[in-house]
Amino acid sequence: MPRFEKHIFICENKRPDEDPRGCCLNKGSAEVKEHFKKRLKELGLNSKVRANSSGCLDACEFGVSVVIYPGQVWYGGVTINDVEEIIQSHIINNKPVERLIIKDKRFL
Ligand code: FES
Repeated sequence: MPRFEKHIFICENKRPDEDPRGCCLNKGSAEVKEHFKKRLKELGLNSKVRANSSGCLDACEFGVSVVIYPGQVWYGGVTINDVEEIIQSHIINNKPVERLIIKDKRFL
């Protein structure tokens, strides 16, 4: 039995404001991660599902970038308003949220 059934990695990489690649932290990724952690705990899922901050996931142009294992599903442009849908659809019902999946062949 695996320690966790699912892992949610949220990029919290920070770059200088003038860096043309931008970064997920400046797009609100810390709030996204905290909201995932809060809701998983409130729903009693935190012993089965882990939300972790990560370094750069090399999907900077799509940030806030999130990847969920198993299955390696990549989400982009994630905001705190998307967290509940990801939890209800993907985490609980195993249905990835199509509209947030990064539509780039590097991540499909
Ligand atoms: S800074 Fe978030 S994916 Fe690179």
